[in-house]
Amino acid sequence: MSSKSSGPACHERAGPLGCSTKGRKPVKELFGKLADGTEIHRWSLENGGTRLKVLSYGGIVQSLEIPDREGRYANVSLGFDTIEDYVAGSPYFGALIGRYGNRIGAGRFTLDGETFQLSVNDGANSLHGGADGFDKAVWDVEPFEDGSDVGLRLRYTSVDGEQGYPGTLAVRVTYTLTERGEWRIDYEATTDKVTVVNLTNHVYWNLAGEGGGSIHDHRLTIAASRFTPVDAGLIPTGEPAEVAGTPFDFRGAKTVGEDIREADRQLLYAKGFDHNWVLDKGRTADPEWAATLSDPESGRTLKISTTEPGLQFYSGNFLDGTLVGPSGKIYRQGDALCLETQHFPDSPNKTSYPSTLLRPGQTYRSTTVHAFD
Ligand code: BGC
Repeated sequence: MSSKSSGPACHERAGPLGCSTKGRKPVKELFGKLADGTEIHRWSLENGGTRLKVLSYGGIVQSLEIPDREGRYANVSLGFDTIEDYVAGSPYFGALIGRYGNRIGAGRFTLDGETFQLSVNDGANSLHGGADGFDKAVWDVEPFEDGSDVGLRLRYTSVDGEQGYPGTLAVRVTYTLTERGEWRIDYEATTDKVTVVNLTNHVYWNLAGEGGGSIHDHRLTIAASRFTPVDAGLIPTGEPAEVAGTPFDFRGAKTVGEDIREADRQLLYAKGFDHNWVLDKGRTADPEWAATLSDPESGRTLKISTTEPGLQFYSGNFLDGTLVGPSGKIYRQGDALCLETQHFPDSPNKTSYPSTLLRPGQTYRSTTVHAFD
């Protein structure tokens, strides 16, 4: 267990040094440099017993530490120790995803009669904004303290035509740590031409601590009666399907591993779970409960609430033992999972899905709250 823990024990989320519930001013340090000399900074912040480390590169959550039931801290998100590792090839560890979370079929869509061809980086499709998505952008980061909250404001302007998307998109993402130790993400974007937007974050969770082995014993609940089945290229085929009677039924808490080896065509296509759940609550003005993940062994629990109508549950199927995390352990298939709040994949080509269109004069807004217990 010691290899999974770091920092002092913190039984009560207050008291001992380093376990204060009070927000601390975010601290900035040099993390490394890109090949062209651009400095990448790492910001460390803490509030309500949660510790977060964020990079200016990709808005990446490099580390997110929470205590277990004994008060022992662990970093529960996969990542790397150096900027070189992130640049060399990260499967979006902890990154901000844009302009479009998940896939757009053939990397193509038509808006107001004009067809746009995106950067294609996943077979024939465009994934997570294309080859050079927001996960590889250098963001402007500003710290803030607001009452009992502490946080970071991240800004990035994506120029007209970037990765094939129309319109200059001004993006602002706010990471807040609340006094209750919640990590809240507020996304905002505006455009100067009609475009599509679907922003999310790609933390890979392992509540036993990164390098802590398989997440197949984690228990997951998703507040969704339907999901969007996919084709072999993981593009939704169209109409949502009921989860009832399928491995996709997470309406009651179930371990990730319980049905993952069922001979179900959808699981075969994705090598596990890698699908969009249609949240029963739909798109909401305020964040509402979407999913709960817990690790019975450590007692750590994550509860996700969002304004978004969908949730991509990805069971780390493509982790293949070729990357080494800060724990010194290699990451194998199923060693982490992602819960990405989003609009549905390929929405620009599916008129029946909630719209991802953004027009000049409108503001894209999305909020997701991660609460820990
Ligand atoms: C996608 C997976 C993809 C992964 C990249 C997930 O959001 O759904 O298909 O392989 O991101 O690491």
